[in-house]
Amino acid sequence: MIADLITPVRAKAQLAALKLVTKLIPSPIPNTLLGAQSRFRLAEHMAHFGFKRVLLVTDDVLFKLGVISPIAEHLNELGVETVVYSGVTPDPGFGVVENGLEILRHNGCDAVLAIGGGSSIDAAKVLALAASNHKTPKQLVGILKARKRSLPLFVIPTTAGTGSEVTIGAVISDEVTHVKNLVIDPKVVPLAAALDPEITAGMPKSVTADTGIDALTHCLESWISDFSTPETEFYSGAGVKLIFKYLEQACENGQNYEARDAMALAANYGGLALNKTALGYVHAIAHQLGTQYGVPHGRANAIVLPHILELNRHSAQARMAALARLCDLATDTEADSEAADKLIQRVNALLAAMPIERAVQGIDEKHFSVMADAAMKEAHGTYAVPMYMNKKEIIGVMRTISKQTAR
Ligand SMILES: NC(=O)c1ccc[n+]([C@@H]2O[C@H](COP(=O)([O-])OP(=O)(O)OC[C@H]3O[C@@H](n4cnc5c(N)ncnc54)[C@H](O)[C@@H]3O)[C@@H](O)[C@H]2O)c1
Ligand SMILES: [Fe+2]
Repeated sequence: MIADLITPVRAKAQLAALKLVTKLIPSPIPNTLLGAQSRFRLAEHMAHFGFKRVLLVTDDVLFKLGVISPIAEHLNELGVETVVYSGVTPDPGFGVVENGLEILRHNGCDAVLAIGGGSSIDAAKVLALAASNHKTPKQLVGILKARKRSLPLFVIPTTAGTGSEVTIGAVISDEVTHVKNLVIDPKVVPLAAALDPEITAGMPKSVTADTGIDALTHCLESWISDFSTPETEFYSGAGVKLIFKYLEQACENGQNYEARDAMALAANYGGLALNKTALGYVHAIAHQLGTQYGVPHGRANAIVLPHILELNRHSAQARMAALARLCDLATDTEADSEAADKLIQRVNALLAAMPIERAVQGIDEKHFSVMADAAMKEAHGTYAVPMYMNKKEIIGVMRTISKQTAR
């Protein structure tokens, strides 16, 4: 009980310091190419820079789907040699990054191109930073641990969710403890990125839905964060509007490039917003579902999101009401309580329309205490949430989730 009181007080002091750091840390925005075929234009930009040999970082699924070869061949035609590292796994661990780093060093690569979802991008970010700083990936965990800019990094996201192509962070898991570690440093931001709808068109429905809800969660957590500013609201508000309009369309018809373009932008805006505001309890709890039960990142957010919105109904009521009005879900004359309610209803309707599995396989009460401690450790002092939750409340959310049945 006393611990529950002390934690928020300590966390608030830590947050005040973090707010200052966040203000001071610059968030460079990569040169971003948009539209169909932009992945090939990005390759042309890379050739102009004069790189000799580029390491392509990706996963085996994308490699086998044939997503990588046309880009590698285009680079080769332009006189740039390529080496492919396709060993990235979902929620990559340190070993994945170290293996890629060894291949980079062995081949003397002078630039890195990530082609993939957040897992490939994050692995490439840390790999490129470790290469230029002569450090191990583990030594880079924390805030501003590198002195030099990363090796030149370029990114082609194949999902529309994490926004990792613009964020100042990367998430790497510890294979032994299963803890997700954050590397936070503006030096990991790529030089350029291509948001190409042709490459996201191949995403299966379930990955489109999971990753789209990840982007929505970034925007919502950023919007209700105590660190939100007019600039972050600009991005997070636009992101939410785009997702409400286009996520269902992107799921229904993967070849709908208008919807794919819009979702790529929404994810990008979510990343730009969270650079300054960080996240919230949805991510803090979702990360535990990922590490403990292997639930994919976006799906874990989708499972947790409705419960946290409901718990924040009062503490973030005015913020949610403002977002509802921005999205034309409520009018200026409606009370905040009604407007906030409409936002929550819209999110729940979107979640219900998505092919997202809500049951967590293997979820077990015996893990809840450790998971709740880890969620509190992640959130308190790091996330500027509108309301602190205690351990009992977090376990309550986990218990409710454990009762959700397969759809
Ligand atoms: N750095 C950041 O700012 C940030 C933000 C949020 C999440 N993350 C991290 O990103 C990771 C999740 O990334 P993600 O959600 O993009 O998923 P992912 O990269 O793990 O990919 C999920 C699966 O989808 C497949 N896939 C990806 N694109 C595809 C395509 N176009 N066609 C067919 N299959 C495709 C992949 O092969 C993989 O099997 C997590 O580790 C999470 O912690 C990072
Ligand atoms: Fe996320």
